[in-house]
Amino acid sequence: MADPYPVSGRRVITAEDIERAPPGRFEVPEGAILTPLALDLLRKRGQDLPANTGAPPRPVTPLVVANWKSFKTTAEAAKFAKAFRAVAPRGRAQAIVCPPFTALAALAGETGFELGAQDVSPFEEGAHTGQIAARHLVELGVRWVLVGHSERRGECGEDDALARKKVRAALAGGLRPILCVGETREERDSGRATSVVRAQVRAVFEGLDPDRVGEVAVAYEPRWAIGRGVVPTDPEIALAVKDARDELERALGPSGLRVPVLYGGSVALENAGRIVRLDGVGGLLVGGASLNPEGFAKLVAAAG
Ligand code: PGA
Repeated sequence: MADPYPVSGRRVITAEDIERAPPGRFEVPEGAILTPLALDLLRKRGQDLPANTGAPPRPVTPLVVANWKSFKTTAEAAKFAKAFRAVAPRGRAQAIVCPPFTALAALAGETGFELGAQDVSPFEEGAHTGQIAARHLVELGVRWVLVGHSERRGECGEDDALARKKVRAALAGGLRPILCVGETREERDSGRATSVVRAQVRAVFEGLDPDRVGEVAVAYEPRWAIGRGVVPTDPEIALAVKDARDELERALGPSGLRVPVLYGGSVALENAGRIVRLDGVGGLLVGGASLNPEGFAKLVAAAG
């Protein structure tokens, strides 16, 4: 897939560029993109900026990822694929389907969506009973993998250190990891949403080779919104996405701008089009609403 972000060819202004410039008002060149940290610096200096200056670039291709969790057998997955083919959604969004491991082979070769897995081993191969490694997935045509989903963090005790290893194993094996981050209800209520999201992004991406930046994505999924029919307010989503973007820039430099940051948690046809157009949002991660082929096709079309 082509680079989803229209950053190349445009001038990117970083906080360092502003710090190095002569004192006084910093003139933002026409058409330039300000990184999130650069934007913060100008605001902190009290420089008034025309509306929309430095808005994160809109992705050319929003990603809409279906997470089927532990639903659908091989036969049910094949039935979905047939029905989805018949209603092939139009638009710019790229659909990605993450079925259970056992249904991956049945979906290989489908052209209406790319294939993703829900997890990957942190090991390349070896004596690791039950682990499915990147090379096993790539062989089946899998291109993407979810890492650190909150149900794995919650039910299986996965932590940031393991997510970090899985992201690197995925990249080394030729997969594009989508790191899931997000706070619990209790963390939000105690004012820690920002620090939790930032720490989760930092723990995984710090030290990552910036050359791999075009191959990774992040999904902000507040744990309390998953499967509950509740979504955060638009400003809450925009703030968490900005938190993730700031940390991506700190870890990866200005090219962190090119990492798609998706939103997930009770995405439905009614809210998909609105959420995907919020500042900084580059796509959606969809659980329950991705199981029905016609419904998912409409949702993908609404996102594009
Ligand atoms: P949901 O799940 O859309 O059913 O809330 C999202 C997810 O867990 O990825």
